[in-house]
Amino acid sequence: MKKLIALLLAGVMTMSLLTACGGSDGTNADETTTDAAGAENEADAADAEDAADTENEADAAGAENEADNADAESEADAETGEVSEALADGVLTVGTNAEFPPFEYVDDNGEPDGFDIALIKAIGEKLGVEVVVENMEFDSLVAAIGSKIDVAIAGMTVTDERKASVDFSDAYYDAVQYVIVPEGSDIASAADLSGKAIGVQMGTTGDFIASDDVEGAEVSRYNKGVDAVNDLINGRVDCVIIDKNPALVFESTFEGQVKALPGEQFEFGTEEYAIAIPKGDGALLSQVNKALEEIKADGTFDELVKQYIEN
Ligand code: ARG
Repeated sequence: MKKLIALLLAGVMTMSLLTACGGSDGTNADETTTDAAGAENEADAADAEDAADTENEADAAGAENEADNADAESEADAETGEVSEALADGVLTVGTNAEFPPFEYVDDNGEPDGFDIALIKAIGEKLGVEVVVENMEFDSLVAAIGSKIDVAIAGMTVTDERKASVDFSDAYYDAVQYVIVPEGSDIASAADLSGKAIGVQMGTTGDFIASDDVEGAEVSRYNKGVDAVNDLINGRVDCVIIDKNPALVFESTFEGQVKALPGEQFEFGTEEYAIAIPKGDGALLSQVNKALEEIKADGTFDELVKQYIEN
């Protein structure tokens, strides 16, 4: 990842973004071109907060850029003017595990899509960087942050254990674990889980509950949640513990075969999803949080919830 001298020189300056979005959602990173030259930017934002980002002239390469998207100008952290090293190459490399609908899944074209993917692309647009998504195993994400990937978005629950290795953005979604059972199962309470064969996705909070909190559980760990559900249908496990929204998706995918039971019934606590970022990258943390705040304020967030989660 090559550093841009222009950007380093610029300090609080902007890196201009030329968006050529064909899609109506305007979030397609493949069609987003970041202008490496970073010189003579003309941005026409009306937002006073972004005033420091407008009309910057840096003569690093002599190109003249016009940002055609009013949202594309808030690259530098508003308070400090700092730009994260992770973004210096104009690319935000994002790890996910696209086995977790509706937050992330592989679409018909073989590309990762879903709520989280759309959200991080919207954040990338705010930051003026291209978003490249790496699909990997969920259990490998935390260790890859700061090396193979810049950040991870994967319906990842904020936990103290993970906080020892990474920092988390502000939370963007509330979650709870659900229990998927075969139609007609008599599992209905926390006590009923004792001694059961429980399927989970490896390294998830569902795994931690089954492994640490359920007495005598025989835990089967899968790389993909859907494989756990298939083994449930085949009778190899008695239930699957997985987050609410994926549980509801699987319930409708395998309608008539399985039921998704609310975690409240099992006294599972609430969880919060957040974006995991390299520990100690304060500039990136505040840039991501600011972008998230803007996306919530301007209605984009609610639109994505409607598009991906509520439909
Ligand atoms: N919320 C759970 C956790 O953080 C499960 C997340 C699984 N995400 C995924 N993309 N497979 O452990």
